Amino acid sequence: MDRADHAAEQNTWNDVDDYVTGLLHSPDIGLERAIAISDQYGLPSIQVSATLGKLLNLLAQISRAHRILEIGTLGGYSTIWLARALPQDGRLITIELEPRNARVARSAIDTAGLADRVDLRIGAAVDVLPEIESESVAPFDMVFIDADKENGAAYLEWAVKLSRTGSLIVIDNVVRAGAITEENSDDPKVIGSRAALDCLGAHPEIDSTVIQTVGAKGYDGFAIAVVERLP
Ligand code: DHB
Ligand code: MG
Repeated sequence: MDRADHAAEQNTWNDVDDYVTGLLHSPDIGLERAIAISDQYGLPSIQVSATLGKLLNLLAQISRAHRILEIGTLGGYSTIWLARALPQDGRLITIELEPRNARVARSAIDTAGLADRVDLRIGAAVDVLPEIESESVAPFDMVFIDADKENGAAYLEWAVKLSRTGSLIVIDNVVRAGAITEENSDDPKVIGSRAALDCLGAHPEIDSTVIQTVGAKGYDGFAIAVVERLP
């Protein structure tokens, strides 16, 4: 496909995302402000699209999630989508490596009126996840993995460890415009995402698939998995 074809396809995907968002999504000033704050502070514009944020929200609703773990907060946009699905007494823990991103996210989450529901932890997830485990809190009903792709397999193992039978795990960016099929890729993000998918496939306790997505963020996809712990 040449550049012009690709641009035309991307325009179509943007138009459909805009149409669906206008038709089916209620306006949410908290989400709009989250994007504005992220842009203002120069965070990379790699947050989930509105339609994929809404998909995360719907998945959280369908699984009646009370406790959600997010690995990779960035500016808090997906955090807000997920936390909006929580009941009043629900809780979301989100982990962000970069203190600057975390400050932006804190402001966006507070502006969205979700301060009481979201516990934002700053640090490397590989350090914060063992701390969460040591707190012996109840397992998570849903985990969204959207941090550095290089550690994807490790994050998946942690997600399983902190889950229960029936927990839902979603991993972002596992298609990468098709690059995921490149066995000999030297892109660390592809290598990391392939390792996470290998881990999903090899895991006796996990049932999963990948849904390929197009839209405002181009061509990518979510891995969607359920933990089926054997008795
Ligand atoms: C990248 C990371 C993401 O989480 C994403 O959704 C898109 C791109 C990246 O690191 O390039
Ligand atoms: Mg992502």
